[in-house]
Amino acid sequence: MVADLADDPGTAVADEVGGLYVHADVTNPDSVAAMYQAALDRFGTLDICFNNAGISPPDESILETELDTWRRVQDVNLTSVYLCCKATIPILLEHGGGSIVKTASFIALMGAATSQISYTASKGGVLSLSRELGLQFARQSIRVNALCSGPVNTPLRQELFAKDASVRRAGSCTYRWAVSPSRKR
Ligand SMILES: NC(=O)c1ccc[n+]([C@@H]2O[C@H](COP(=O)([O-])OP(=O)(O)OC[C@H]3O[C@@H](n4cnc5c(N)ncnc54)[C@H](O)[C@@H]3O)[C@@H](O)[C@H]2O)c1
Repeated sequence: MVADLADDPGTAVADEVGGLYVHADVTNPDSVAAMYQAALDRFGTLDICFNNAGISPPDESILETELDTWRRVQDVNLTSVYLCCKATIPILLEHGGGSIVKTASFIALMGAATSQISYTASKGGVLSLSRELGLQFARQSIRVNALCSGPVNTPLRQELFAKDASVRRAGSCTYRWAVSPSRKR
């Protein structure tokens, strides 16, 4: 099952794998509950849950980022993960275990050459939350992992790099650091 706010790409991905698409806003507890209920109705159980939704709006510095941007980024990138885990862990426990994977970021470990303060903080939260849930539920056969991927050319990254040339240069420096810390300048 694929769930997203963006119906066209979500449906295309679900169709490609012969799966189910569900429109869902992962910041909304009712929408999260409905999404997992749809999966249970169709497939009878859950084995693997991948919490991947994220946004990266203009968020340049703590000196400029306003509270509404901060809150929106925490909602989509971090609170969504809390809501999804709260909804899925009872289901996984009932069915004997499973796996939860989240998308954090290399930024959670290293910080960014170009400040994205709310984004970085949200991904640090995803990583810490994953570590703790992994410890708490390991004995009940639930694995919890967070992926700390490097930069990938997606709409999210393009939104950040579209701003100006200095961001693109700093982004490329961040990328080199992600690949090889010793090459950081
Ligand atoms: N692109 C990168 O360089 C990079 C690096 C590290 C981590 N990440 C993380 O990877 C994940 C995927 O990002 P991406 O780069 O593929 O970007 P993307 O914009 O292509 O994908 C993000 C998806 O999240 C969905 N989404 C946003 N808000 C939502 C909501 N409230 N409810 C449901 N769905 C929602 C969007 O519709 C979109 O399909 C994100 O968590 C991002 O932070 C990306």
